[in-house]
Amino acid sequence: MYKIYITRRIPQPGIDLLKKQKGFDVKVSPHDRVLAKKELIKNAAGVDALLPLLTDKIDGEVMDGIGKQLKIIGNYAVGFDNIDLKAAKERGIMVSNTPGPEITRSVAEHTVALILACAKRIVEADKYTRHKKYKGWAPMLFLGTNLYGKTLGIVGLGAIGREVAKMMSAFEMKVLYYDVKRAEDFEKQFNAKFVGIPELLKNSDFVTLHVPLMPQTRHLINAKTLGMMKKTAFVVNTARGPVIEEKALLKALKAKKIAGAALDVFENEPAIDTDLTDKLELRAMDSVVLTPHIASAAIETRSTMAEIAARNIIAALSGKTPPNLVKS
Ligand code: GLV
Ligand code: GLV
Repeated sequence: MYKIYITRRIPQPGIDLLKKQKGFDVKVSPHDRVLAKKELIKNAAGVDALLPLLTDKIDGEVMDGIGKQLKIIGNYAVGFDNIDLKAAKERGIMVSNTPGPEITRSVAEHTVALILACAKRIVEADKYTRHKKYKGWAPMLFLGTNLYGKTLGIVGLGAIGREVAKMMSAFEMKVLYYDVKRAEDFEKQFNAKFVGIPELLKNSDFVTLHVPLMPQTRHLINAKTLGMMKKTAFVVNTARGPVIEEKALLKALKAKKIAGAALDVFENEPAIDTDLTDKLELRAMDSVVLTPHIASAAIETRSTMAEIAARNIIAALSGKTPPNLVKS
């Protein structure tokens, strides 16, 4: 009998897949909230597989608390910065994530929506209209910017970064990209140019972040790099909050060093600028578009992610390599 613990209710297809397996005893946390570390350890002690969410921090202490029999941590997310990979490796525990075409599309579509929201000032204009401020058409009312001919800077050219480029190609923008490795096929396909971060920031009108969170990408966008951007440029983050130093971003926005930002993720999520003395600042700014970490929140995507997480666990417990094993 293999025991599996799911830290919070996920879409049913994933749970059903696990429950259908012979000899699988599947438990799902009955609470629709993030479990405290102690609770998680208590509920998951003795399991062979853990299915956590990106909101569960899985460190060595949690792994030890669950026990030596733990074989796999099948994370329900494409990101895996919530898991201490080194601690997992030391204990011989496999870690998997949930990439795939659905999540790639969802996150890319959300990114496109945020880019458009910035360019067309959708959120600001909606608020204005809703609050009955609209008194008649005016030639200078809510002047935004066209995307055509502007430059899109993609930081991180994984599946999501590529998909954003593909979707955005309809707008006929120039494309710059940065990644740890060059992708000549991509350059040919999208007439894109491989550049360093400074050159990308200096020349882009829209900077979109698609890197995983790692020591090398934490605070990649900071006071110094924000200072390289155009005054008219926007930064869009659907990756991980700490890739941007939120305090520095707020300062740059206030000083109008850049034109705006669209954020789906936050440095101290779910809090927003909590470590600032003057709270609510980002939330009070019209040049900022905020969404609550929902870039992958499409009904079909979240179901598929649940199935992918389940398949990784099934593979690991059947002595096979999980299809989405995270290499560390
Ligand atoms: C969402 O942020 C994910 O990593 O799946
Ligand atoms: C705008 O409504 C226009 O007709 O130019």
